[in-house]
Order: sequence, then C-alpha cells, then structure tokens
Amino acid sequence: MRIYETANYEEMSRKAANILSAQVISKPDSVLGLATGSTPIGMYDQLVEWYNKGDVDFSEVKTVNLDEYKGLARDNDQSYYYFMHKHLFDRVNINPDNTNVPDGTQMDSEKECARYEKLIESMGGVDIQLLGIGRNGHIGFNEPDNCFAKTTHCVDLTESTIEANKRFFASADDVPRQAYTMGIGTIMKAKKILLIVNGEDKADALAKAVYGPVTPEVPASILQFHNDVVIVADQAALSKMP
Ligand code: F6R
Repeated sequence: MRIYETANYEEMSRKAANILSAQVISKPDSVLGLATGSTPIGMYDQLVEWYNKGDVDFSEVKTVNLDEYKGLARDNDQSYYYFMHKHLFDRVNINPDNTNVPDGTQMDSEKECARYEKLIESMGGVDIQLLGIGRNGHIGFNEPDNCFAKTTHCVDLTESTIEANKRFFASADDVPRQAYTMGIGTIMKAKKILLIVNGEDKADALAKAVYGPVTPEVPASILQFHNDVVIVADQAALSKMP
C-alpha cells in the first residue's frame, strides 16, 4: 500500500485526478471503476478541467460504477446514474455507450447482478478501481458483515448508511433500503485500487482498514491483501494512524 498525505480536500482531489489521468494517458482504452459520494466530486471537477484544457481524452475510456440504489429511476437526481452523468460523463468526451452503472430499475436482483458481473469480465476486468470509504469501513455498499461477499449482489443497507445518506433525500424514509454493489471479490480483482479519503470523521475507519485485522467487520481492511493499492488521504483522515 502506498499512502499519499495531502494538506486538504483540494490537494487530495488533484492528486487522485493525477493518478486517474495518468492511467488514461498510458492506456487510453482503460476500464475505470468509478465511485459516487461526496469524496470524488472534487476529483471529477479536476478531471473535467484538465479535459477542457486538452490534457486528458476520454474518447476510448470505458467505465463501470461500483454501485446503484435498487428501485431508483435513472432520472431520479439521487440515482448514481444521474450523479455520474452530472459530475463526469456529460462534461467530457466519453462515449455514453461505454459507461456502465448497475441498473437500479431492474427488480430481478439475481439477473441484474449476474449481468453486471459478466459485463465486467467481458470488458477484461477493471484497470483501476476508485473507492471511497464509509465511516463504518464499507466499500461500495459492502457493509460490515460476518463474511466477505464475493460478487455483485443486492444488499440491505444498514441504519448507519441510511442515516449518512439521508442528507441527500427529503427524509430518511425516502432513502432506498437496498442497493446493488460490486462484491469484495469483484473489487479485489481490479488491477489497481485508488482509495480516496478526507475528513476527520473517516479517520477511525481508515486506521482500522490499514492497520487493523483483516475482517469483514471492516470491509475495507481486505485491501491489505491487494498488491496495488494507492491511498490518497488528507491530514484529517490520517489523524488516527498509529
Ligand atoms: C459510492 C460508494 C460508497 C462511498 C462511501 C463514502 O459509490 O460506493 O462506498 O464511497 O459511502 O461516501 P462519501 O464519499 O459520500 O463520504
């Protein structure tokens, strides 16, 4: 694991954008595994800025997103499909046909999860997977559990995740109760992993993920077993490192 410490969120975003664009420059048809949430917004803004300057070209890039709420339509402004179009896809020259997000409108979980897992395989796997981390150590929507889920699956969201996400909805009651997510096995198959973390509220989870025992109780701790992980985190997020 390589850990880059940055002074603040802006520097974290720039460093992460640097790593992603280096990947795209060295392999223009890279498969990027992408994430949503508040952490990557600054990184996406930075990529768009460099795209506008002519420094990065997304014309051959392919993407697969980590997760999506089950039951939300694509045009719902809280769907991850909507998020990705708003923050990245609609702002750069990526071919929309080359972008993939689990289909939250497909109510047959087994069918959708099998389709998504196969799709990733058919693309030749993920070259670089971007991750954020939840305060409980989750990655994707892989919540603390007593075993690691291997492949793309449907999860029941925990109360703490519903609580954390309700800021995006009119009320906690509007937060979907289920989501589709790549499994831990799917994530671990990515050739490279880029974990970005900011803020003191993530410091405990990050310290446990990097230095604690590898346990499904802290899903991100599995990253200790991946051979190419880069963590870009600001000082606040690194403040609980032993
Ligand atoms: C998002 C995702 C989640 C987030 C995590 C952190 O696609 O899979 O695991 O990365 O919940 O979210 P933020 O960045 O909002 O703190």
